[in-house]
Amino acid sequence: MTGFNTQLVHGQNVHDNQTGAINIPIYNSSTYAYPSATSKVRWDYERSGNPTREYLEKQITLLENGKNGFAFASGMAAIHAVFAIFKQGDHILVGNQIYGGTFRILNQYFKERGIEFSVVDTTNLATIEPAIKENTKATYFEPVTNPLLHVSSVAGVAKIAQKHHLLTIVDNTFLTPYLQKPLELGADIVVHSATKYLSGHSDVIAGLVVTNSEELGKKVYFVQNALGGVLSPESASLVRRGIQTLAVRMDRQQQNAFEIIHFLEQRPEVTKIYYPGIKGTKDYLIASAECQGFGGVLSFELAPKINASAFVNQLQLIRLAVSLGAVESLAELPYEMSHAELPPAERLKAGISTQLIRLAVGIEDSSDLIADLKQAIDFAVQHPVNKQSI
Ligand SMILES: Cc1ncc(COP(=O)(O)O)c(C=O)c1O
Repeated sequence: MTGFNTQLVHGQNVHDNQTGAINIPIYNSSTYAYPSATSKVRWDYERSGNPTREYLEKQITLLENGKNGFAFASGMAAIHAVFAIFKQGDHILVGNQIYGGTFRILNQYFKERGIEFSVVDTTNLATIEPAIKENTKATYFEPVTNPLLHVSSVAGVAKIAQKHHLLTIVDNTFLTPYLQKPLELGADIVVHSATKYLSGHSDVIAGLVVTNSEELGKKVYFVQNALGGVLSPESASLVRRGIQTLAVRMDRQQQNAFEIIHFLEQRPEVTKIYYPGIKGTKDYLIASAECQGFGGVLSFELAPKINASAFVNQLQLIRLAVSLGAVESLAELPYEMSHAELPPAERLKAGISTQLIRLAVGIEDSSDLIADLKQAIDFAVQHPVNKQSI
């Protein structure tokens, strides 16, 4: 078997066209001709299958070392398809720090349709077993949480789940198969917002699912084909292209993250840094054992007297935006932006203070990123929090 970097670039061989094209063409056809009315054809209708989409689906299956892959119109469509394989009366354990959009679909959609959920802290394996009920069917979590980057052991959760015949479902958006392969650690299903690192250029919304068995694959395919939240051939081609440079992008993002952390550690205005690559934490121990790297997202707290809004507004090169995983660096204020939907008390309970900054590190020169952070900190120091406006 070829190495992971070779798999990223070459994936499956392309030899289904007459031109010698190196890349799978974008097959823009919603329907396909039958040679005769009774013919059994491989392709009949785009919702059921498309060669460009299938290329990407096989590619992510190869990279995650799974059995079947599926591409959806967004990460949320992929997550919806996975939860849609469960039935009324099923109970699912859910990590307490999953993406807000996932919480929304569980609480405001699936719960109303009779699926039960309990929230557990998967970073603390001891909380899982007591939460299992007779109707529990699965655990669902993100191995690296957002925005505090706390790490759960996929192998640890999967071991408990297997003992109780539960499925383990992992959202692998933050790490990607370059840094962690959850199926090899015992998970059954992996989901991705391919909008992030896999595509890597902030130009496409996409979701992927990989299963570890044909049986689960059939269930996900049923939902994909029946509901039709499929990825378009154009977007599938963009994700395919992004994947080819995944490793080189993530290497640079991680290198930049470490250099930024080194800078932040020396600034008295920064009171705490969250990144699983910082030694001496439980997160570091788990990530070192189960991951090939620590990712390109880090968060940090500014001292109470620093105006966090003034800091992010002052950034010039680093763009103020939600999302992550792209070539350009993005900063955001989780309290005001990505997590604003949570009531203030819940935000604070989850460790999301008004002073917390999340940085999705890009592939620029680290010296430019550090210079931008430095001038924004200096500016915020000169414009301290106005007590009356708190
Ligand atoms: C961890 C995680 N999972 C899922 C999603 C949803 O993906 P999408 O925005 O592609 O629908 C996101 C989006 O931010 C995410 O961060």
